[in-house]
Amino acid sequence: MSESITYRMMKPADAEEVSELVCTGFDEFIAGDLDAEGIAAFRRYADPEAFRERSGSGSYFVLVAEVGGRIAGITEFRDRNHVALLFVGKDFHKRGIARGLFDRALRQARSTQPDVERVTMNSSRFGVKAYEKLGFRQTGPERSVNGIVFVPMAMRLDRPLDPDG
Ligand SMILES: CC(C)(COP(=O)(O)OP(=O)(O)OC[C@H]1O[C@@H](n2cnc3c(N)ncnc32)[C@H](O)[C@@H]1OP(=O)(O)O)[C@@H](O)C(=O)NCCC(=O)NCCS
Repeated sequence: MSESITYRMMKPADAEEVSELVCTGFDEFIAGDLDAEGIAAFRRYADPEAFRERSGSGSYFVLVAEVGGRIAGITEFRDRNHVALLFVGKDFHKRGIARGLFDRALRQARSTQPDVERVTMNSSRFGVKAYEKLGFRQTGPERSVNGIVFVPMAMRLDRPLDPDG
């Protein structure tokens, strides 16, 4: 498969498809590590209406990757310095889509807030290796808050944003 990947901001009409992609990935790779409280909290966060509300709030933005007219992956940033979600559909894993989403979302965040020095994220157990490849490092022990298990990670941004890059 060599279909091209396009990246764009999420529109309100994408919320159902985005939610479906995230919930499917969650069920497959993450839910097994969580208790019922954590699963319910995540599902509330990933509800289509919740995506629509957050994307209109100004504190959040969602970038989507499209392949052949399908949403293949998404990332959600909060406050331009925190990766709230990064999910790629199983059929599209290991094709560079998470890296493409993260790089573009980071550039978008830094274009509106150039002084961002550090990006944080709370990874699933499954995601840790991929995030290390993207440049994140674990900043503390695994934690559980409201039933959601996560590994705190962060990336320091050493270089200023290249305006031509
Ligand atoms: C984690 C996830 C987002 C990675 O998406 P992806 O598109 O397959 O990642 P990429 O192809 O962009 O890979 C980025 C780097 O991570 C590495 N990588 C990706 N998945 C990996 C895995 N399961 N184990 C080890 N390394 C992995 C790639 O080899 C690549 O490294 P490289 O560029 O040095 O070769 C995807 O597996 C996923 O959606 N998982 C389920 C949801 C999840 O756990 N999300 C994180 C919590 S919010």
